Amino acid sequence: MRTPIIAGNWKMHKTVAEAIDLAHGVCSAVENVSGVDVVLCPTFTALSAVKNIVEGTNVGLGAQNMYWEVQGAFTGEISPVMLAELCDYVILGHSERRQYFGETDEGVNKKIKAALAHSLIPIVCVGEDLTQNEAGETETFVGGQVKAAFDGLSPDEAATVIVAYEPIWAIGTGKTADPAMANGIIKTSIRGILAGLYGDSVAEKIRVQYGGSVKPDNVAGFMAQPDIDGALVGGASLKVDSFLALVEGSA
Ligand code: 13P
Repeated sequence: MRTPIIAGNWKMHKTVAEAIDLAHGVCSAVENVSGVDVVLCPTFTALSAVKNIVEGTNVGLGAQNMYWEVQGAFTGEISPVMLAELCDYVILGHSERRQYFGETDEGVNKKIKAALAHSLIPIVCVGEDLTQNEAGETETFVGGQVKAAFDGLSPDEAATVIVAYEPIWAIGTGKTADPAMANGIIKTSIRGILAGLYGDSVAEKIRVQYGGSVKPDNVAGFMAQPDIDGALVGGASLKVDSFLALVEGSA
């Protein structure tokens, strides 16, 4: 049985002071929630402050990106060693990183390996854009991203990775994928591909989230799907009330 996981990707939002407020609010709101993993992913600048708040609570902490080298002359980058001091999860290969910052499948694969080598749990994002979706290329494209992301990972490593299926056309647009259709893509192009690589027992352990305009009024539809194990949430994670409603809707 896979434990559902709701992760709030705060993207480039919240000053340190605002992040502290939101983290306090979320921690007290979800205090009595069980049966669902709750993870906050603030900006790098707020990670340390939010760490102090979530410590000893049922809320986990993640970063939004990472470089694969351990240290060195890589101005502006953050290493897995630095993140491992602060958090347990790291979002890798988000479509906004692929789209605006030139991240490639190869780079994402290196980041996943580096994260795992430092005991960070990667939340690996995959998903097609509107043109690919309309051209009927979703399954091939997403399947290719999954194969590239998991290239060279052992079965044990693979089992710890979390995958987030985030169709790009659904992110921040208010348009969501149909839950049954999203489940179908996850079943064939994510879990199915993973079953081909690692066998059914590993594929059945890997948690797969849906992301893209998840809101309190649509979360239940996604959570009811057999292959969807939670959500990676942007906009609705920025307020305590809506985030709590998502968590409660998933428990
Ligand atoms: P929204 O929930 O704002 O659509 O963002 C989804 C997302 O990109 C989470 O990583």
